[in-house]
Amino acid sequence: MEDILRTRASDRHADLMNHVYRSQSGIYDLTRKYYLLGRDQLIEALDPPPGGRVLEIGCGTARNLVQAARTWPDAEFYGFDISSEMLKAARKNLAQSGLAERITLFQGDAENPARAMPPTVRKFDRIFLSFCLSMIPDWQGAIRQAAALLSPGGELHIVDFGQSERLPSPFRWILQQWLALFHVEPRKHLRRFLDELNAEAGTRSEFIPQYRGYSWRFVVESPATAPTDGSSIRTKVRSG
Ligand SMILES: C[S@@+](CC[C@H](N)C(=O)[O-])C[C@H]1O[C@@H](n2cnc3c(N)ncnc32)[C@H](O)[C@@H]1O
Repeated sequence: MEDILRTRASDRHADLMNHVYRSQSGIYDLTRKYYLLGRDQLIEALDPPPGGRVLEIGCGTARNLVQAARTWPDAEFYGFDISSEMLKAARKNLAQSGLAERITLFQGDAENPARAMPPTVRKFDRIFLSFCLSMIPDWQGAIRQAAALLSPGGELHIVDFGQSERLPSPFRWILQQWLALFHVEPRKHLRRFLDELNAEAGTRSEFIPQYRGYSWRFVVESPATAPTDGSSIRTKVRSG
């Protein structure tokens, strides 16, 4: 019963995302480069090991995957999205990029990624979420699921809208109203949640606020081996 309810919720969210992006996937990359800030810094910081596997959750049009595959030519790339409309645009972009052999796309829900994963692939050296958590209803669950897919010593990289904490409050208010029109909700408690995850799972997080808090970036490192003493390491803050 629980499974059926989860599948229905997932289908409803896929419909909503298709509705949001159906008319926009063609102009998405052109318009988003002006306000999805911090994506390029995330890609530069990935630094996967040679031959490593990298997964983008909520890959949209595959803009990030293409750029990451060019930046890190020794790695294998995977990406999934819940929206079939976005994946259509992503497949077209891959074909044009000439990188289709190095990037595998599939459809899936970040709240239950294992269900969609190619059967031969189970773990990743790097996983990233770019401006996606703010659209996932159970975003904490999605982070836990992503962390479970990391190889020992792997890293989860996140970039998303922050709280614009160092920008004027009228700007903050207008931005939040505008984002809500697209079903985007910046995750105010993301940093606190990652601290909790550190305590639970022995991960270590770095917090990198950018553009006066307009975007927040995080790097979450999974332990090289499973912790035996339940020790926790708190989130380290770096200004960007
Ligand atoms: C703002 S776009 C970002 C796309 C891309 N990551 C980028 O940085 O350009 C958010 C993407 O997350 C996807 N998404 C939202 N909820 C999702 C979920 N539960 N599982 C997988 N993808 C999801 C949407 O379909 C959309 O493609």
